[in-house]
Amino acid sequence: MARNKIALVGAGNIGGTLALLAGLKELGDVVLFDIVEGIPQGKSLDIAEASPVEGFDANMLGANDYSALKGSDVVIVTAGIPRKPGMSRDDLIETNTKVMQAVADGIKANCPDAFVICITNPLDVMVGILQKLSGLPANKVVGMAGVLDSARFRYFLAEEFKVSVEDVTAFVLGGHGDTMVPLTRYSTVAGIPVPDLVKMGWTTQEKVDQIVQRTRDGGAEIVGLLKTGSAFYAPASSAIQMADSYLKDKKRVLPCAAQCSGEYGLDGLYVGVPCVIGANGVERIVEIEMNADEKAMFDHSVNAVKSLNEVAAKLGI
Ligand code: APR
Repeated sequence: MARNKIALVGAGNIGGTLALLAGLKELGDVVLFDIVEGIPQGKSLDIAEASPVEGFDANMLGANDYSALKGSDVVIVTAGIPRKPGMSRDDLIETNTKVMQAVADGIKANCPDAFVICITNPLDVMVGILQKLSGLPANKVVGMAGVLDSARFRYFLAEEFKVSVEDVTAFVLGGHGDTMVPLTRYSTVAGIPVPDLVKMGWTTQEKVDQIVQRTRDGGAEIVGLLKTGSAFYAPASSAIQMADSYLKDKKRVLPCAAQCSGEYGLDGLYVGVPCVIGANGVERIVEIEMNADEKAMFDHSVNAVKSLNEVAAKLGI
């Protein structure tokens, strides 16, 4: 049986990390694509040269022509520009919208059956544009944000509770941005919800609130430290987990930016919701009950995504 083929559109910081992780996890052969000549070829060769040491078999190809995407099973899109200090994800909208047009054409022409994971920001808007312009079915085009946001939340909670990150689950809904909705009552340590852990004296509500805010600002915290770009290790790990669930039909329940059709009262809007990811892409959107406070935060987040979509619409997309 032939190996799976994973195309990475954008060979920058996230693209290169994705290629390495796809190799280390033996997810399949990798095509690294970029408009800049030499970068995808150089990174691919460098990673291929690590394969004898790490003990993985995968073809690593660098390319500047979309025809290299032909027959890809998964496409992960990071093409575009990242944030610099002082910029919000939304400031990227005009440049990255134009990039999505070219990427959508490349996917449509070469691998219309692929499962497409978008990482380019502002995420909820870019993934919607990518789906619309590529014409791929909505269940095959998703955005990576929630896995990353909940990973940050899990890490901060694990640090606070001094327990393994593996035993912390976290739940994040809504758009990928300052309005994201971390849901503490659905976040647990070994099944014990965070509000119960507050009652048990493991932490205080004030500390939980600080962690929620740090999660919302998680991307900006990294941008502020790096100064020349945005986070790339954790975003790459998060997208690889989604690709893995699709390729192995694991049916993981993962928070993704998915197109809602009726769920959460939304019609045709991409926003972060829990999804079952399997061989058919987004196989199910899980609709949870929200209390009044959570619903208000979710609505606020949805409105932020909607107004950004309007900004993109004015660009003629
Ligand atoms: N087609 C293909 N690649 C492109 C295009 C295009 N039209 N335009 C830019 N690129 C490439 C750049 O040449 C660069 O190699 O996209 C790559 C982006 O890499 P980085 O600048 O290192 O950015 P990265 O940190 O990987 O983030 C990419 O993901 O998280 C988001 O906000 C982030 O939108 C940004 C994206």
